[in-house]
Amino acid sequence: MLEKKEIYEKFLYTGFIERFRVDPENAHLAVIRLLHIIQHSPALIRVVGKLILSEGKFPTSDRLHASIAGMEVKNPLMLPAGFDKQGQAFTALLRVIGMGFVEIGTVPPKPQPGNERPRIFRLGDEVVLNRMGFNSDGAEKVNNRIVASRGILHRDEPIGVSLGMNKDTPFDEAPRAHAEAARILGEGSDFLTINASSPNTKNLRKLLTQEHMMAIITEVKTALSTLGIERPIFLKLSPDPLDANSSWQEQINTLIQVAEEVGVAGFMLTNTTINEKQKEYYGVREQMGGLSGRPLRERSNEMITYLNQHTRLPIIGMGGVGTGSDDEDRLMSVLEKFAAGADAVGMYTAMIFHGPSYPSYLLHKLDKWMQQEGVKNIGELVGNSYILKRRTI
Ligand SMILES: Cc1cc2nc3c(=O)[nH]c(=O)nc-3n(C[C@H](O)[C@H](O)[C@H](O)COP(=O)(O)O)c2cc1C
Repeated sequence: MLEKKEIYEKFLYTGFIERFRVDPENAHLAVIRLLHIIQHSPALIRVVGKLILSEGKFPTSDRLHASIAGMEVKNPLMLPAGFDKQGQAFTALLRVIGMGFVEIGTVPPKPQPGNERPRIFRLGDEVVLNRMGFNSDGAEKVNNRIVASRGILHRDEPIGVSLGMNKDTPFDEAPRAHAEAARILGEGSDFLTINASSPNTKNLRKLLTQEHMMAIITEVKTALSTLGIERPIFLKLSPDPLDANSSWQEQINTLIQVAEEVGVAGFMLTNTTINEKQKEYYGVREQMGGLSGRPLRERSNEMITYLNQHTRLPIIGMGGVGTGSDDEDRLMSVLEKFAAGADAVGMYTAMIFHGPSYPSYLLHKLDKWMQQEGVKNIGELVGNSYILKRRTI
């Protein structure tokens, strides 16, 4: 019998989305609308969940439980920022798709349209180019949605928000802008992420220096403490060096220093890449935007390994998770992130190509592999490259 993900790949993706060149953003918005409708009805969540989830059920084995920066999660697979940008579908993403936790956003303080469409492009197998540019309903509206829905979420279904700044915010007002977004969105979130690593807002990555990040995080923390709340704050890293004269290792060294000085909960890596060679390889050298999926897999692993060697702070690893040459290699794309030192993983692009059953499919596969290999919990995999060498998939 066909796996549910194969039905999506063969019929919906190849037979419809690719064949009729459905605009990726329209396809995405249709999915968000559908999930938004489903999530308001427990009966629909149950029925559609059964239809969508691989094996018709949640991957809820105790082996998959994890704890990240004090948050308990049912499984270590996060949906990173960019999918539920406006906070419209997170309950369904947790309960129908089976994600362990969800990062909403990126959300800047004020609404803005983002770049001109088209701005998402599928580049063949498991690679996407996007230049969305923080299209957002703005912090107030996104927060209203979060507050309206989050009451039904359990403690082990955390949601966070990725914070950004508006396109027209003057560079030296970045701390104030991030703090404003945090003030509005902090209460309803279990964690917050500072996203200065998107390549699609001019000069944003220039904030990834010691001076700027210190100022931003300090102001965000002050804003939260004025409200009497404390939230784990993650920093999202870029896979690219900040400029021609530096390396990604320098970016990491700087941000570890910042993190240890001002108290950051952990790191997420990586965001999309604007690496010229990669863009040339995929025929989009002249196009604005960052690549995600397959081309990030190796660089992200390298960076996670380096980060893990230099800090004990939690790491959420993403970039090419779920991509690979075959299904075994795709499971490997998850395992290798843990082996490199990630405490949890994020996956976005692979879902575009393998469909809504894919997260639960991978989680069931991961769980079975752990059972077969006698691995009792995710913690045993973290930073343990020995496990991968010793054992076969
Ligand atoms: C269409 C699209 C939009 C994205 N938007 C955001 C965003 O708003 N904020 C952010 O931090 N990352 C964003 N990302 C990056 C993802 O969160 C993730 O870091 C990156 O895609 C690597 O993971 P993947 O290879 O599994 O896709 C976006 C990615 C895609 C494909």
